[in-house]
Amino acid sequence: MSSFVIEASGLSKSFGQTHALAGVDLQVRTGEAIAIMGASGSGKTTLLHCLAGITRPDAGTVDFQSGAGRVEVTSLSERERSRLRREAYGFVFQQGLLIPELTAVENVALALMLNGMPRARAEEYGRGWLAALGLAGMEDRRIGQLSGGQAQRVAIARAQVTGASVVFADEPTGALDSATSAEVMQALLDSTTGQGRTLVVVTHDADVAGRCSRIVDMRDGRIVGERVPGVAA
Ligand SMILES: Nc1ncnc2c1ncn2[C@@H]1O[C@H](COP(=O)(O)OP(=O)(O)OP(=O)(O)O)[C@@H](O)[C@H]1O
Ligand SMILES: [Mg+2]
Repeated sequence: MSSFVIEASGLSKSFGQTHALAGVDLQVRTGEAIAIMGASGSGKTTLLHCLAGITRPDAGTVDFQSGAGRVEVTSLSERERSRLRREAYGFVFQQGLLIPELTAVENVALALMLNGMPRARAEEYGRGWLAALGLAGMEDRRIGQLSGGQAQRVAIARAQVTGASVVFADEPTGALDSATSAEVMQALLDSTTGQGRTLVVVTHDADVAGRCSRIVDMRDGRIVGERVPGVAA
């Protein structure tokens, strides 16, 4: 069995005349935290979306190694990719994608209910994850009654609760001050790589990237370098 949880090969994606991805190969190992860095417009989000089966590339393949076997994500139907995202992946984005009308625990439980778990059990699980992320006592607050860092930890709980084997995060700390950013990043690492799961994170923040096991640098839709934090290139 491959030790790579995700293998992307020859990924290209254009939007009109813009070549957002121009031939990307990337192998992500099980249990690693990989940071994707690069200037605005270099293709980071497009790459993350292709790896996660949100966007279908124009060319190239993405393979995902699940417990049940190897899946070529790029050849799945929209419906199958949507199921894969719900069951095998977790997502944390800058805006959190939380539903403001729902409470913290309802937002987390929703991810489980979408996979068929009854509400009472889903909320019980949700409370456990919120407590693990330091949010005990805040379960019944609406998202607007939480600080940015607390809300982002709710988003992390929601991404973890289904037991996702890979968590994809796009600028998860982009809207936070540096102290809160460090805390949120630590919570994200503890709940992913700390549990043998894999994290793929897009970030502009060198401190966030510095906590990952590997950094890939993008420019003009290509990977132009790879570094291990703390080791000179
Ligand atoms: N849906 C879209 N329609 C048209 N162009 C797009 C679309 N999505 C991305 N692009 C273009 O593709 C290129 C790569 O975009 P992408 O969002 O991947 O960049 P990024 O590295 O994530 O940038 P940022 O750091 O600003 O988030 C950019 O030139 C962008 O304008
Ligand atoms: Mg982006």
